[in-house]
Amino acid sequence: MNRASLEKRPDDVARMFDDVAARYDLVNDVLSAGQVRYWRRIVVAAVDAHRGQRVLDLAAGTGTSSEPYADAGVDVVAADFSPGMLEVGRRRRPDITFVQADATALPFGDDEFDATTISYGLRNVNDPRQALREMLRVTKPGGRLVVAEFSRPTFAPFRTVYTEYLMRAIPPIARAVASNPDSYVYLAESIRAWPDQDQLAGWLVEAGWTDVQYRNLTGGIVAVHRAIRPTVTAAGTVDTSAVDTGSVTTPSS
Ligand SMILES: C[S@@+](CC[C@H](N)C(=O)[O-])C[C@H]1O[C@@H](n2cnc3c(N)ncnc32)[C@H](O)[C@@H]1O
Repeated sequence: MNRASLEKRPDDVARMFDDVAARYDLVNDVLSAGQVRYWRRIVVAAVDAHRGQRVLDLAAGTGTSSEPYADAGVDVVAADFSPGMLEVGRRRRPDITFVQADATALPFGDDEFDATTISYGLRNVNDPRQALREMLRVTKPGGRLVVAEFSRPTFAPFRTVYTEYLMRAIPPIARAVASNPDSYVYLAESIRAWPDQDQLAGWLVEAGWTDVQYRNLTGGIVAVHRAIRPTVTAAGTVDTSAVDTGSVTTPSS
């Protein structure tokens, strides 16, 4: 091994990420031709966290997605279930709080975070809809969710070229640079099997998030979904007056 199958058994997924941890960030840069840095900047802007706020970066891996928050003085918690990824993260950024956590059963109380975010992690979670419910639970009412995930390119000819890249080019490139090249076959397969932008937006709504919107990046290779946890009124009813429940917009990339 080690590569997980599309069944995404948690032990297999965690072990696979343990194995890629050592060269994870380098491989990301190479496979995305540097685009990953631009995608990360968009996510940080969408999370819009400020000093004094608490942010959960779920499936944080080596903490690369958590660093900009820590650098801005935001109290960020980097949570992941792969001991190998966490170890690399703790070594690289001892100032960041890393917590071993399964996205489907988070070890945090209700309403703990001003914002919750997950970058390139949800696709790997065995039960992503349960993870979206858990993220809702730990986020404060009125708090924000930002999900970055690979998605479906919107322009059909580009989609064809991209799918070829995923299936044919990634494995040989990964063999040259990755510590566990086989896992990059899983990467390609899992991206192809993942729901498109609208389906994922529907999952967010189903989980209880409101004001769901998404933005396509690099022609839809990546989509960034944003949503708000509804507030609850004194009468115990959900107040969605300030938000547009379930609306999905697609500003141009
Ligand atoms: C592709 S990495 C993303 C890491 C980081 N967010 C980034 O942007 O570089 C995906 C991460 O999801 C984690 N993961 C997968 N399933 C998980 C689960 N059920 N609970 C917690 N973490 C999970 C893996 O361990 C891995 O570190």
